Amino acid sequence: MTTPNLPDADQPELRGTVNLADLEALGRSRLDRNALEYYASGANDEVTLHANRAAFRALRLRPRMLVDVSNVDTSTTVLGLPLACPVGIAPSAFHGLAHRAAELGTARAAASAGSIMTLSTFSNTPIEDVADAAPGRMWFQLYPCIDRELSADLVRRAEAAGARALVVTVDAPFVGRREPNERHRFALPPHLRVPNVASRDHLARLESESGSQLVNYFQGLIDKAFTWDDLAWLRSVTSLPVVLKGLLTAEDAVLAAEHGCHVWVSNHGGRQLDTAISSIAALPEVVDAVGGRVEVYLDGGVTRGTDVLKAVALGARCIFLGRAALWGLAAGGEAGVRRTLDLLQDELRLALALSGKQNLGQVGRDLVRL
Ligand code: LAC
Repeated sequence: MTTPNLPDADQPELRGTVNLADLEALGRSRLDRNALEYYASGANDEVTLHANRAAFRALRLRPRMLVDVSNVDTSTTVLGLPLACPVGIAPSAFHGLAHRAAELGTARAAASAGSIMTLSTFSNTPIEDVADAAPGRMWFQLYPCIDRELSADLVRRAEAAGARALVVTVDAPFVGRREPNERHRFALPPHLRVPNVASRDHLARLESESGSQLVNYFQGLIDKAFTWDDLAWLRSVTSLPVVLKGLLTAEDAVLAAEHGCHVWVSNHGGRQLDTAISSIAALPEVVDAVGGRVEVYLDGGVTRGTDVLKAVALGARCIFLGRAALWGLAAGGEAGVRRTLDLLQDELRLALALSGKQNLGQVGRDLVRL
């Protein structure tokens, strides 16, 4: 948090990073225990957290040769918006724990890289300021709140600020149990606010004698009775496209498509239901179930251009970075996130070329041996 938000060229340590693992190591080294454990931890035994990466590694590519790959194009679109490459920023809470630039650093990096910023309800920066930092390139993540008027107000604010989609997180009616946060009583440091949903006083009132303070706060806010039927209410307050984040099965993907919602395959970075299926393993059945009716995205465990390639091959239109973006932010603010996105795009371009593909349109399931 003491790192100034300097451009890449002025941060020699950042310049020295050659992959996302380097950025993760640098980012981790800049965080205190409270922040590090909040970002790093998964639920329970962290089986799903580790499975997300392991499942990507276990997939093998079937490259083709003797193709003209002198010009490789990594671009795509999401909901009609052109992206430089199929990599966006997933919503994650409290970017202020990583760097004083907080969500503004992440948003600026996403915008300058031609990516997309998904802003968490639990940001340390107001919706409108983040929208200004990523003009036309922001999606807004919503937790359905018990207080419907609060949800509606957030949606209206996001829409008015120029958000292009609503990403409704559906896998967290309760917060998963991240044991390091319980053990060390994770708490938001006093200098950080959660301006979209609560005043500092509100947070202080919710503090308790034990456990993660996030859990206490969250449990009081989230509507645990929100179901498919309630999507009609959401439609009544907004005309934005709706993306359901946190689906892992064909059954739910069919329901999402029937409700006109796009599907974001995710297990919340292994932070919710431990031993849930890895996101890349869940992707093929989801893609088959929606049959092209809606767009499909994925997050969880992406650290390499080959991971992006595999997800696209299995039918994801775009992948999103959660922790990877936070490590970049911690490593060097806006420049650190930009370096994360740039490295991943470079890796994807090379992986495409070495697979005999000129663009993402040529990437299909035949590229992966399941
Ligand atoms: C988390 C919630 C806030 O994963 O999304 O910590």
